Amino acid sequence: MNLTVREFEEIRNYIYRVSGIFVHDDFRQQTETRLAPLLKSSGANTYKGLISRLVYKNDIHLCDNVIQGITSEENYFFSDLPPFETFNDVILPKLAETIVSRKRKSHVRRGAKINIWSASASKGHEPYGIAMLINEFVESAKEMGVERNDFNILASDLSATSLAKAVAGEYSEAEVHHGINEERRGKFFIPSGGKWMTKSNIQDIVDFRKVNLTEPFTRLGGFDVIFCRNALEHFNEATQRSVLTQFTYMLTRTGFLVLDHHSNLNGFHDYYEQVEHNGSMVFHRRGNMEFSNI
Ligand SMILES: C[S@@+](CC[C@H](N)C(=O)[O-])C[C@H]1O[C@@H](n2cnc3c(N)ncnc32)[C@H](O)[C@@H]1O
Repeated sequence: MNLTVREFEEIRNYIYRVSGIFVHDDFRQQTETRLAPLLKSSGANTYKGLISRLVYKNDIHLCDNVIQGITSEENYFFSDLPPFETFNDVILPKLAETIVSRKRKSHVRRGAKINIWSASASKGHEPYGIAMLINEFVESAKEMGVERNDFNILASDLSATSLAKAVAGEYSEAEVHHGINEERRGKFFIPSGGKWMTKSNIQDIVDFRKVNLTEPFTRLGGFDVIFCRNALEHFNEATQRSVLTQFTYMLTRTGFLVLDHHSNLNGFHDYYEQVEHNGSMVFHRRGNMEFSNI
């Protein structure tokens, strides 16, 4: 089924309105390819039917699937290794020092918590991947007195459908056999009726919430680390700047921002120093640069 220029424009306008994602003219063919499977699975059958369900019937589930179709490469655990390696090798040891120092200073235990935000968490591969690394780190650094519960991960996404899957923590054979070795499968998943369920050791430190990055979100509070991989690139420049402004405002003075290779700091370089590790796009907030520009 061909996606006509007019249908492409209607779908593109709709996607932009609900998510801030701007689909360029060059992506008409790709949009057609990516949305084609939805024609059948949703029962819309034609692009005209799809548009009618989206625009006139406000079908939220279909909307989520369209946005996933447009933005998603296939999701796997540790799909892009360098950011996770940098989190493990560089960020986690620094966070452990922060925890120790906060515990020393604070009489209130709660004050020591490290807050990590996975801002486009999709179906949960990213936040659970982070939680696996935290588990392994605290195991190997017991003598520092750092515990799993010193960490809290907020996993958010625009798509309620994706978040529901993340909350359920249920993954297919293929998903847990790609990127997860046998040892990790045993440590973090329980096989259940042909599926794999996340264990409480990773589930308990992740909270889920629907957040649209094109709407103001600073109310979520401060974070020590923000992951925003494979989402920013889909926004126009003004939206990217608005998102980065809020991230910079929300990060602690020594916080880390984890992006992907398609995204950049878009004029915020003064506030960050790139972490030189495995060529990952990880940035360390410069503690001496005040930011109140919000
Ligand atoms: C390709 S996935 C990224 C998943 C994960 N961060 C990774 O890199 O593996 C892109 C995600 O961005 C989400 N997204 C798109 N527009 C958004 C918006 N305006 N606010 C929040 N999330 C959005 C989509 O729903 C999708 O789950």
